[in-house]
Amino acid sequence: MMNVQNVSGLRSSEQRKSAIAPGYMSGFGNSFETEALEGALPLGRNSPQKLNYGLYAEQLSGSPFTAPQATNQRSWLYRIRPTVKHSGRYVKIDKGLMRTAPAAREESDLPLGQLRWDPTPFPGHDVTFVTGLHTITTAGDSDTQVGMAAHVLLVTSSMENEYFFNADGEYLIVAQENSLRFRTEFGIIEIEPGEICIIPRGVIFKVELIDGPARAYICENYGGAFTLPDRGPIGANCLANPRDFLTPVAAFEDKEEPSLLYVKWGGELYRTEIDQSPLDVVAWHGNYAPYKYDLRHFSPVGAILFDHPDPSIFTVLTAPSETPGTANVDFVIFPERWSVAENTFRPPWYHRNLMSEFMGLVYGVYDAKPEGFVPGGMSLHNQMLPHGPDASAFDHASNVELKPVKLTGTMAFMFETRFPQRVTKYAAELPTLQKDYIDCWRDLKKHFNPDQREPS
Ligand SMILES: [Fe+2]
Repeated sequence: MMNVQNVSGLRSSEQRKSAIAPGYMSGFGNSFETEALEGALPLGRNSPQKLNYGLYAEQLSGSPFTAPQATNQRSWLYRIRPTVKHSGRYVKIDKGLMRTAPAAREESDLPLGQLRWDPTPFPGHDVTFVTGLHTITTAGDSDTQVGMAAHVLLVTSSMENEYFFNADGEYLIVAQENSLRFRTEFGIIEIEPGEICIIPRGVIFKVELIDGPARAYICENYGGAFTLPDRGPIGANCLANPRDFLTPVAAFEDKEEPSLLYVKWGGELYRTEIDQSPLDVVAWHGNYAPYKYDLRHFSPVGAILFDHPDPSIFTVLTAPSETPGTANVDFVIFPERWSVAENTFRPPWYHRNLMSEFMGLVYGVYDAKPEGFVPGGMSLHNQMLPHGPDASAFDHASNVELKPVKLTGTMAFMFETRFPQRVTKYAAELPTLQKDYIDCWRDLKKHFNPDQREPS
């Protein structure tokens, strides 16, 4: 297994690509157009009587037709066959360890508590993207399009003549160990640790390994699509800049081989047999498409004198709910950054939140939990449950000389939702669940002394 820190965590900005990688188009939420064969895209209209190259036109809608302009999403696909030809009789099959809210709500009787897991081990048998989806938490209700699920993805085998789509939500995939290639209807996306990709609801894809068995975290967002957060007084720049989001150019397979299409629908898994690759889109245009983002391009904004803002300042993408400011899911990162605040307790303060927090660590060290929370591990601090720095982090941060410090080579993240997150049976029974996590706060001492006003 490769050393993730050396490969990506310590990559300096000078070493990053200076231009858009080949095969991608730049921008967030743009109306893109792309063709793999010259002239495949019809000009000036969506659905001419006959298309070049004998293609079919098909619209894929990610929002109701009448959604407001800002949230209206659809693309036109020009393909070898309409998708209805990539569909046979659907057979319900074993969904493995994939779970969906609210069906998984009562699956575990694990007592309430702050939870933390060591890295999820790879299983002893081959797993693809479909069979390697291990659900850790579910929240809300996928049928009513609210809430989310957090999964750990373990892949030891590429999908061959196998394809998949999820009707229940969009996937936000956070690469953690080794790289993944997503061959989608819209084109090809590759991500390495430090990068994420988003596969919208309904988009057909398959997943291949590039450099060995891969682990990733996945947020399955049942609600409205992820978008960029409003920056408010921060203004027009910083945080995640739109130009750094990359959408693939069209690429297609003209492959006539018996294949399987897996479909996650209504919390169940189905399979249908087809005679060809469904990744047969020769050209497309629109604003509903998968995309990727390099988290190392995130420009953090923070305190430059004292205190520090709420972690929402690190929001990369947000999936809003119908209540303003109350996200269905926020995707938040804790990247490399300078810590400079004077007379300030610099790690996250102790807190209890309405929102529930699923955290993972891609690489490096997380400043509030220098021990016990390791790359590939995860933690869950549920709605209103207290948490904060462990005892040693508190002691260190309370006494350290406050020079400017750079937190280097680190990338933690959080899937934060307004809903409580229910732990699956699988996650509750994982041997990697730390039985003694609560003990990390055991040594927090009482320092209160009514006779001594000034801190010692
Ligand atoms: Fe927290």
